[in-house]
Amino acid sequence: MADFTFAETDIHILGEGMSACDYVDQRINAFSLTACKDAFLMTDLDDVLNKHLCWLSNLPRVVPFYAVKCNNSPPILKILESVGAGFDCGSQGEIEQVLSLGVTPSKIIYAHPCKQESHIKYAEAHGVQMMTFDSEEELFKISRCHESAKLVLRLAVDDSKALVKLSVKYGAKLASSRQLLQTAQNLDLEVIGVSFHVGSGCTDSNAYRQAISDARCVFNIAEELGFQMTLLDIGGGFPGKNDFKLSFSEIAADINKSLEEFFPLACGVSVIAEPGRYYVTTAVTLVANVIAKKVILEELPPLSGDQLTVASRTFRTDGKIANKTMMYYLNDGVYGSLGILLHDLAQSSVLPYPHRKAKPDEPVYPCVIWGPTCDSVDVLVKNALLPEQQVGDWLLIDNMGAYTHCTSSAFNGFKKTPIYYVMSRDTQLRIQLPSPHILNDDVILISTE
Ligand SMILES: Cc1ncc(COP(=O)(O)O)c(C=O)c1O
Repeated sequence: MADFTFAETDIHILGEGMSACDYVDQRINAFSLTACKDAFLMTDLDDVLNKHLCWLSNLPRVVPFYAVKCNNSPPILKILESVGAGFDCGSQGEIEQVLSLGVTPSKIIYAHPCKQESHIKYAEAHGVQMMTFDSEEELFKISRCHESAKLVLRLAVDDSKALVKLSVKYGAKLASSRQLLQTAQNLDLEVIGVSFHVGSGCTDSNAYRQAISDARCVFNIAEELGFQMTLLDIGGGFPGKNDFKLSFSEIAADINKSLEEFFPLACGVSVIAEPGRYYVTTAVTLVANVIAKKVILEELPPLSGDQLTVASRTFRTDGKIANKTMMYYLNDGVYGSLGILLHDLAQSSVLPYPHRKAKPDEPVYPCVIWGPTCDSVDVLVKNALLPEQQVGDWLLIDNMGAYTHCTSSAFNGFKKTPIYYVMSRDTQLRIQLPSPHILNDDVILISTE
């Protein structure tokens, strides 16, 4: 394994019996001793490792090539490298990052069917050979820039049951695959396999079955033309959240059956996948601070005594009964880590909850939760019900690992939310990360920036 240093980050090793939640408590307590109440993302690396173990037991035949675009935090990439995963890169930048961690080029698939020529040349110069294509133009480009590329034909598949559809943008129709293979042959390019993506947030495992069957058809055509294809890439689309309507184990069971039917072990075809959100969604929690608050009192017609006990109703200073709605402003929002609310149909809502434990019978109030920028589109939740929060209190949001920090901006002068990493000693030993950049559990660093 190549030497590895965390340039931007340190990992906090959890002491015996300590959990990632305890770490959040500790950090919040430490913040209370300072003026700094910046939001942070807590990444639990044990969770990433557990996802990998679950992958191995459910899909033993399928080698994961993690989709770097989803969350390119160096410790996550390093853990996945250390357990033997490969990487799906979509650009020169991602290839550079993965190579810089010591990953061998053969563990990278450049899985973007429409690439910039200079990025193809970079891949060629650095020994990255596997790459996808879905058009003749792409084949012409690749033959100019990377003659020894090992090509994977990306198929458009039925993604009608997915929350994020990708085949509208990428993938060749099954009907055009013969023509594409012939063009590759005429250009003397090597085509080693087929890939597809059933769409993110796939709600029907039959989509994988249909796509695997389509891939079989392309393998058959390729055989007729004299290609010896050896790789099937079943893409991403595996659920990130644990409570997603279609579970990972159900999808995996159906994939295993379909592989057995269309690509039995004896056929010698290697199978890879490009999971993104599956690996990282649940590993990350956003911890954000209430930086401002407004109480909105809206006048109501007189109510009976019973109705007056409803917590969200109150008296205005002039004695009239009013609906009480809270507006909270957090220090992270849609231009920061929560861009998913605007662009990720597979995770278009979040559920903030208070760090402070509510007292028994504490009333809850309807609230709108805003992000920090001056833009009114910067809203996290329009109708949450929470116990009353004060400025300086903390709200937590789970399932924040996928397409969050990596898509955030510094719009309006708000800095990107920093990430802190935790893992248990067991995980540290298991993946054998070097220790100089790892903090002991009695050390908590508070950023003063
Ligand atoms: C080519 C490719 N592979 C893999 C992924 C990862 O998808 P997911 O996060 O749904 O697993 C994506 C997501 O856009 C993609 O475009």
